[in-house]
Amino acid sequence: MTHRLTIRTPDDWHLHLRDGAMLRAVLPHSTAHFARAIIMPNLVPPVVTSTDATAYRDRILAARPEGSDFTPLMTLYLTENTDPADVAAAHASGLITAVKLYPAGATTNSASGVADFARVQPVLERMAEIGLPLCVHGEVTDPDIDIFDREAVFIDRVLDPLRARVPGLHVVMEHITTARAADYVRSAPTGLAATITTHHLVINRNHILVGGIRPHYYCLPVAKREEHRLALRAAATSGDARFFLGTDSAPHADPAKLQPCGCAGCFTAPNTLPILAHVFEAEGALDRLEAFTSLNGPAFYGLPPNDTHLTLERTAPDIPAQVETDDGPVTVFDPGYPLNWRVA
Ligand code: DOR
Ligand code: ZN
Repeated sequence: MTHRLTIRTPDDWHLHLRDGAMLRAVLPHSTAHFARAIIMPNLVPPVVTSTDATAYRDRILAARPEGSDFTPLMTLYLTENTDPADVAAAHASGLITAVKLYPAGATTNSASGVADFARVQPVLERMAEIGLPLCVHGEVTDPDIDIFDREAVFIDRVLDPLRARVPGLHVVMEHITTARAADYVRSAPTGLAATITTHHLVINRNHILVGGIRPHYYCLPVAKREEHRLALRAAATSGDARFFLGTDSAPHADPAKLQPCGCAGCFTAPNTLPILAHVFEAEGALDRLEAFTSLNGPAFYGLPPNDTHLTLERTAPDIPAQVETDDGPVTVFDPGYPLNWRVA
């Protein structure tokens, strides 16, 4: 039985850090375990220009704990008015690592996202030319599409036609939740990848709804049937380089989550690595954890893996149930079983 596992330091390829006091409260939980993270731009107002991204990056750097050299990999929030020249300049200067596409209205703070995809064709073409990846929230927003079908319908109606219109574009399907999305990613030999969250490897839709409603398990895309959770576990633990970790750790203070209309998001930054060690061990794939957390993501983004290492040891972790913020506590995602791995 393995008792210690040393891997290259992980990166988080999809992270919400928020801003202000919330940023300061949650950031140390990511910098403790991750060397780099792709930072989501869905602030209020969103991070749409290179000027916005520069200022946000500086606020993140200033909020890092003493001694941390965590690198925020910035993104721009794609709108129908995004200027291709601004995007290209932000990429050329090294400021941004990706652009994020939110279909308008799909999720938290997505109102400024894209409704008419024809209007973003020029910026997508420019991104393909310069090799700048597009991170996609893959859900349609049509009111007539059932929420559990929104990812699968997005692939057929939006993503596949978009990739056909801009063939050289590198695309990351973010936080996939279905077997259909995993299969779609496998259908492309290059230029298409997916992030998988920690929580979608752990919960299915029953966990949200059976025996009472569990607001802390509500996120978008919403967890699907058990067969899909199993498909995600198979993809994540397969070693296939097209799948890598993006936690989508998305803190909301409990007063905002525990409402008649509560916010979507699971806060997994503090316990993602203990949970992943548990999941990979259960799947007999501990030897493939490093590929998922530390190798596949950098390879897709054309970055070197981290040259530092992190050790997991078989000991119960000491993880707080909640993290205090000025807006109230943020509840840490509860996998529903005891964890027996911790970061040494
Ligand atoms: O659950 C989610 N929370 N999904 C998203 O797409 C956005 C995120 C957030 O920002 O809270
Ligand atoms: Zn997200």
